[in-house]
Amino acid sequence: MVSIIILAAGQGTRMASDLPKVLHPLGGKPMIQHVLDAVAMLKPRKTVTVLSPTLQSNTTLYKTLESSNSLIAIQNQPLGTGDAVKAAMPSFDKEDENILILCGDAPLIQPDTLKELIKQHQQSRFTLIAMRLLNQQQKYGRLVVSNSNLIKKIVEYRDASAAERAIDLANSGVMLINRQLLIDLLPLLKAQNQAKEFYLTDLIELANKQQTPVHYIEANVDEFQGINTRVELAAAELTLQNHWREKLMLSGVTLINPESIHLSYDTNIGKDTTVGPNVTFGANVTIGQNATILPFCHIEHSLIAEGAIVGPFAHLRGHSTIGPQSAVGNFVEIKGSILNKGTKVKHLSYIGDATVGEKVNIGAGTITCNYDGYKKSKTVIHDGAFIGSHTSLIAPVTIGENSIIAAGSVINKDVPAHALAVARQDQTIKPEWAARFRRMRSNKKKD
Ligand code: UD1
Ligand code: MG
Repeated sequence: MVSIIILAAGQGTRMASDLPKVLHPLGGKPMIQHVLDAVAMLKPRKTVTVLSPTLQSNTTLYKTLESSNSLIAIQNQPLGTGDAVKAAMPSFDKEDENILILCGDAPLIQPDTLKELIKQHQQSRFTLIAMRLLNQQQKYGRLVVSNSNLIKKIVEYRDASAAERAIDLANSGVMLINRQLLIDLLPLLKAQNQAKEFYLTDLIELANKQQTPVHYIEANVDEFQGINTRVELAAAELTLQNHWREKLMLSGVTLINPESIHLSYDTNIGKDTTVGPNVTFGANVTIGQNATILPFCHIEHSLIAEGAIVGPFAHLRGHSTIGPQSAVGNFVEIKGSILNKGTKVKHLSYIGDATVGEKVNIGAGTITCNYDGYKKSKTVIHDGAFIGSHTSLIAPVTIGENSIIAAGSVINKDVPAHALAVARQDQTIKPEWAARFRRMRSNKKKD
């Protein structure tokens, strides 16, 4: 069983934001939540997140950490990663045998990689994750490795010579280290480097001096993209999206023009469903099998059952359910509503806070008037009802089974089952009026 330290006391100034860096969203959840969720898969004994005093007073961050069962340690001044780990140490006791250290600003880490690290660490007291750089310009710490594949030292990029910068094996920022070894080595760190910081990475040389070998495993560089700017945030988002898109396609979902489809961390789509271009999935979306999502939809907090067709240009939100074989068409917004099996809302409608039965047909331009300026009210439409186009349903209102609402009606009273409701002015016919009108106008023009 491991214990965890997440380093997050850095200033994050390069994000140029009032929002703390680790709260910036990535794939629909805060950056740090990705790290917390990855480590939760290891069922750690304890997780401690290191924050700066300013971050500590951020309620959102506090709640995020609390709901993930992370303790908080405070680093009073940002004196470097080594100093940040020192700040976390009082949270551990002798039951915490090995401590896994990660960075809060590297959210793409995969639980399986961490599990591999733990496995390899069984014969070791100090193991870290290294990565092969594809681009030598990247400013990660470089690993100097011995012939026997042990790490001799890590040289930070800004302190490295040209020869050291040419090394393509770099420090991911993730290490697993025996707690007693940490206790022995941390006081020996010195801030004698370009940044005048206590570098955590100096522990490697110190361990070697005490004849403790330092091992490493190699993992995919994509998992360790650190985020310091919004440009890097966008790059990490792209990596994540590509990973999720690929996973979905391999599980049997067709994504047309996948790079234009935006997913969330919890998007769940069934086999043989097709998603068209330019569809955005916010949080909490589940789609069944054989459904079709046509282009340009925005969908969040919704369940779409098997065989349903949604879009193009539909907006689903607020815990909505689209039943099996139902259809939601263009320029339709559905909020907090349930459409049961085989119901159709195909054009230009707003359905909010409604429960709609099976095989209901909702005509173009129907609006549920669910808000009176103070409170929201419910609309209930029973099975088989036919709502004519351009109807306003003023909630609270109930439309009975198999009833018909005449087009253009404004309905503010309940409609019984099997009835016809017409709520619009009677039509007046004036025979020959149009012809007389035109004659009169054209005579005037001649004058
Ligand atoms: C660090 C590593 C580098 C590695 C890279 C991987 C060190 C000295 N260097 O560099 O070898 O290649 O990560 O991404 O460890 N933090 C604190 N308190 C501090 C300073 C930093 O909590 O005083 C936190 C930051 O919030 C961040 C993490 O530690 O989450 C890493 O710090 P950062 O300054 O980003 O280190 P890098 O220069 O990226
Ligand atoms: Mg960094």
